[in-house]
Amino acid sequence: MTATTLRASDVGYRVDRRDVLTDVSVRAVAGEPLAMVGASGAGKSTLLAILGGLLVPDRGLVTFDDQPVRQPAVRDRIGLVLQNYGLVDVFTAWENVAIALQSRGHDRAEIESRTSAQLAALGLADVAQQPADALSGGQRQRVAVARALIVEPAVVLADEPTAELDAENRAIVLDALLAAAQRGAIVVVASHDPEVAARCAAQVRLADGMVVDTTASTWQGTAGN
Ligand SMILES: Nc1ncnc2c1ncn2[C@@H]1O[C@H](COP(=O)(O)OP(=O)(O)O)[C@@H](O)[C@H]1O
Ligand SMILES: [Mg+2]
Repeated sequence: MTATTLRASDVGYRVDRRDVLTDVSVRAVAGEPLAMVGASGAGKSTLLAILGGLLVPDRGLVTFDDQPVRQPAVRDRIGLVLQNYGLVDVFTAWENVAIALQSRGHDRAEIESRTSAQLAALGLADVAQQPADALSGGQRQRVAVARALIVEPAVVLADEPTAELDAENRAIVLDALLAAAQRGAIVVVASHDPEVAARCAAQVRLADGMVVDTTASTWQGTAGN
């Protein structure tokens, strides 16, 4: 059986006639978390947004099991954790997470049990009823992770998900992302954090918008899939 694969092939992206990404090819496979590392400005966030179908590359292709990633049916299966979190400030932490299940039409009992469990898994049970704008940066970051993971997306893309966290909460967030990979999700994490890279099965390093180093499974070889 072939693992589900998210693949960027020869991606180029320019801003103001400057190359932000040049001939980038990476692949992430289900169950094998991929860390995207590199200095600030290397192009990690841009590539993550392209992998998630939020940005359209000027060149190249992004596919999920050979379907274009921007197809709505594929987009619906992608969970994103972006750097500005995208929470609804006046909703509670609980509501910000539950909304992901509500919009998919789950019944009330299931929404309640899954939301509570997901918040607890990220150490947020005590702040569940606080409005998002009363939470700390680190708590907001964990709510965003909870909201992305609760729908059990086929693909999880996280941009610096541990940036505002202390060691204990970094471990909680990383464990949650790795657990998603273990249940079969494709997980890609852009991060400065060496601990994140070390705990991911695969790594790709970007510098100046180019791939400069990868572990074997991430390069887009023709042998195997
Ligand atoms: N919308 C944009 N406008 C101007 N510059 C951009 C834009 N998007 C990305 N860039 C530039 O592209 C480069 C890569 O940025 P980014 O993907 O955020 O890198 P990283 O996440 O690795 O820090 C940076 O030099 C950044 O300034
Ligand atoms: Mg970034």
